[in-house]
Amino acid sequence: MAQKTKSIQGTRDILPGDSHKWQYIEQIALKTAGTYGIREMRVPTMEKTELFVRSVGETTDVVQKEMYTFDKGKVSITLRPEGTAGIARAVLENSLLAGPLPVKVCYLVSCFRHEHTQAGRLREFHQFGVEYFGPVEPTADAEVIGVVDDLLRRLGIDDVSLELNSIGCPRCRPEYNKELVTYYRAHEKELCPTCLDRLERNPLRLLDCKEKACAALAKDAPVMLDSLCGQCADHFAGLKKRLEAVGIRYTVNPRIVRGLDYYTKTVFEFVTNTIGAQGTVCGGGRYDGLVEELGGPPTPGLGFAIGLERLLMVMEAVGCAFPPAPLSRIYIGSMGEEGNIKALELCAALRKQGIDAQCDTMGRSMNKQMKYADKLGAVYSCILGENEMKQGMVQLKHMESGESTAVNLSAEALGEFLAR
Ligand code: HAM
Repeated sequence: MAQKTKSIQGTRDILPGDSHKWQYIEQIALKTAGTYGIREMRVPTMEKTELFVRSVGETTDVVQKEMYTFDKGKVSITLRPEGTAGIARAVLENSLLAGPLPVKVCYLVSCFRHEHTQAGRLREFHQFGVEYFGPVEPTADAEVIGVVDDLLRRLGIDDVSLELNSIGCPRCRPEYNKELVTYYRAHEKELCPTCLDRLERNPLRLLDCKEKACAALAKDAPVMLDSLCGQCADHFAGLKKRLEAVGIRYTVNPRIVRGLDYYTKTVFEFVTNTIGAQGTVCGGGRYDGLVEELGGPPTPGLGFAIGLERLLMVMEAVGCAFPPAPLSRIYIGSMGEEGNIKALELCAALRKQGIDAQCDTMGRSMNKQMKYADKLGAVYSCILGENEMKQGMVQLKHMESGESTAVNLSAEALGEFLAR
């Protein structure tokens, strides 16, 4: 036998036995978003590399180390490492900002990052995301956070908590950055090489470093919240007030800085400790400068993305209920060519009535067909032999109880019985 080609490290197959769980999550996500007037948008998997460099940021891990980039002709192309940049590009390119604001969109996308793989950290993963373009008010931040809270509730998840921070704006952050650099310069010898490298270019990210010594230093580092300008401080206070008004619990965590450069003001994460080290299920925040950065008019924006693999891991870890895997309602076994054609005909008619029906496509013996029906978990089965065809009656067997019921051999009679 020829050697099998294996999948790429960090990618996963979603098998037929699991796909209904994904469909369930995706449907609830779209439905939840729909109640906020958020409509789905679909954008290409690949974009020009410069889009991510301009938005996600040149000094980020994502752009520096993790992007799947290739050249085709004269264009450098990248498989999207996240959804926001492509959505912002498309909103601009399709002039959606000329319509009524806010623009509220959501998306279900696969993303690609060349990361060290571990549980909950993949190289191809899936996100459900929401983006708002236009609103500056903290009511929008509370609403966007509310979508996540709402979705988690609808899925039956209650042990994921919201951590909130504000990382200021281009007015107040530079001052704070200076304070940070001064603080870290005094501890230069304790820093890991990555932090040392980032110190001048992106000091905020040092607060996020997982290295033991750096994490210890971060504990005593100056806090952005103490350096917010009046506008950012008011915005953050306004957001907290609104979250309290709608009953969404949060913890302020000054070390939430996020790994992407476009954020301003509000940043947040939904975290859990039920799925190991990669416990951030959702990340998001405001990006008031992004649209302008991408060549559009000054337009505030904000959003979030939930990692669907991690969401599924949480649901499985805490025992959330999923709808059962779909089962065939009936398997119509048959003997001989005439019987097989009749089975095919009945299946076609039943499917038109929305009933999941199957018949033999493998040329199996009767015995083997029934064994297969059993393995399938079909709810009912029947056998079309010469007698059944002659008499125009068939015995429908309930596979679990073994109980049989005689039903007319017609699609109408079968359909009526099976629809019960
Ligand atoms: P992010 O924090 O990079 O933000 O990713 C959002 C979520 O995607 C994470 O919280 C996590 O659940 C999931 N995720 C990220 N990387 C991986 C990975 N390698 N394997 C599995 N899951 C992963 C963003 O992507 C922003 N675009 C979110 C956003 C939207 N901010 C504003 N709007």
